[in-house]
Amino acid sequence: METNAPKRRDNKKSLRVKVISLGNAEVGKSCIIKRYCEKRFVPKYLATIGIDYGVTKVQVRDREIKVNIFDMAGHPFFYEVRNEFYKDSQGVLLVYDVGLRESFDALDSWLGEMKQEMGSQANMDSIVFVVCANKVDLTKRRVVDEGEGRLWAESRGFHYFETSAQSGEGINEMFQAFFSSITDMCENGGKRPATEVSVGFTKEQADTIRRIRNSKDSWDMLGVKPGATREEVNKAYRKLAVLLHPDKCVAPGSEDAFKAVVNARTSLLKNIK
Ligand code: GTP
Ligand code: MG
Repeated sequence: METNAPKRRDNKKSLRVKVISLGNAEVGKSCIIKRYCEKRFVPKYLATIGIDYGVTKVQVRDREIKVNIFDMAGHPFFYEVRNEFYKDSQGVLLVYDVGLRESFDALDSWLGEMKQEMGSQANMDSIVFVVCANKVDLTKRRVVDEGEGRLWAESRGFHYFETSAQSGEGINEMFQAFFSSITDMCENGGKRPATEVSVGFTKEQADTIRRIRNSKDSWDMLGVKPGATREEVNKAYRKLAVLLHPDKCVAPGSEDAFKAVVNARTSLLKNIK
């Protein structure tokens, strides 16, 4: 099977790896990297034009890791420039702004773009992903909470960190976990260690909780058409109840989602003859 195994240098203990940053424009990708590499924050927005490239050396246990960082531009305009840089990555920083829901919703399309560009080489199990919920310092404008972000990340076997490039919160911890996981993966023959993906709940459960949270009304929440019959409502309810019952589902947010589904069913049945 094909992996994205990194290039080993002569010294057995040193590794060379490639990481990339992905996410909508202005979410803070460049600032996160700058905060880690240069220990500073730039408040003025300087859009990345195409790609920024940098190298840093880190120590993980007894290994020296040479990290090649490709910081991608998030603006759609740069798609043509980005697309050839996806290949051969061992790590991906997926960044969104906790104050902009569309930047969180866009994570799926960023993964989609990456898969498409990697083509037959798309072996996502050989890549370590870290989701950065960035700009957590701006608490008043926050719209995507921790539970929602964590759920999206962990249900896919990705790390999740709350970060602020402005204050530095979470940045070092995030990079340490990122590089340490990449090293583990390389030592594991290019396969992401299995422990990271065993989170105790399924992607279906996680996606359903997310769908419920974002639903616009009770019909939408149960996944039935407005005007559905009692029977259809009950059938949809039973399916969701089995999937999300707190005795069976340990995904974060399942209890609230389950309660919301119970309430939605009650209110719909009240109005159906
Ligand atoms: P593109 O290169 O266009 O894809 O954007 P980017 O994701 O690299 O964003 P960049 O790092 O340039 O940051 C965008 C803006 O957000 C800048 O004005 C930063 O100062 C600001 N910013 C980045 N991170 C944070 C953060 O954690 N908190 C706050 N308050 N502002 C941030
Ligand atoms: Mg940038």
